Amino acid sequence: MTKGTATGIEHLTEAELLSLLDLEQLPKHIAIIMDGNGRWAEIRGFPRIAGHQEGIKSVREIMTLCGELGIGALTIYAFSQENWKRPVPEINALMMLLEHYLQSEMDALIEKGVRFRAIGRVNTLPPSALQWVRRAERETLHLDKLTLTVALSYGGRSEIVDAVRRLAEDCTKGLVQTEAIDETLLEGYLSTQGLPDPDLLIRTSGEARISNFLLWQLAYTEMYFTPTLWPDFRRRDALLALLDFQRRERRFGRVTPPTPFPSGGL
Ligand code: IPE
Ligand code: IPE
Ligand code: MG
Repeated sequence: MTKGTATGIEHLTEAELLSLLDLEQLPKHIAIIMDGNGRWAEIRGFPRIAGHQEGIKSVREIMTLCGELGIGALTIYAFSQENWKRPVPEINALMMLLEHYLQSEMDALIEKGVRFRAIGRVNTLPPSALQWVRRAERETLHLDKLTLTVALSYGGRSEIVDAVRRLAEDCTKGLVQTEAIDETLLEGYLSTQGLPDPDLLIRTSGEARISNFLLWQLAYTEMYFTPTLWPDFRRRDALLALLDFQRRERRFGRVTPPTPFPSGGL
């Protein structure tokens, strides 16, 4: 895990950062915990919702960058199950914002070839927000340039619980034999089914925790924590994150570069 950014390149211009990027070694799937909206607003003396509103601009920029670089999947944490514990006015404002975003952005999503997908206990959203979520999913189902997965009322543990419950039901019905249960089979019951695991997780705002996000899928994801607050996290910051990612050596438990056995063997 790395905290902060790739060293020595923070002063470079966006074009210079872009030129340093290895386009053959980009992540296929980026997941983001978009944190720090409230603090962004509070330090400016604004209501917290102003931070959420500003954060939407960051979402647009990062989506556009993913589109330009050909990164096929972006998964963003927009509202956790635990976020229901927030004050009702903030929850209501967030739901209104979601609805407004989907209403105003639908044409742009379609035009950019974005497939919208929601994960989480989406049915617990207010009916009007839910209606827009389902509509966005329906109207972008055929698109495949970028899959934008938005985690709404999402919790990693309950996702696993829901998957296990459905799997158990299929066992009871005789559709699945218990001996056939393996990682691939269980994965097929998760809400992210069909998406590759994230290669890179970005969390903004200085917190270095997962907060119940994609617990299964992050098993071998590279973590990038930055103090930048989400509304300030724009193209440049994303390029720094990508360059940091490209400096990592992903070993997946192996030893690399392969060390030859000492002569005489073991
Ligand atoms: C993240 O920003 C957005 C949501 C959780 C909806 P926060 O609202 O958590 O902002 P901070 O962490 O309080 O600054
Ligand atoms: C995580 O942020 C959830 C989202 C970004 C939607 P939180 O602000 O809710 O997380 P904690 O409470 O700091 O762990
Ligand atoms: Mg927060």
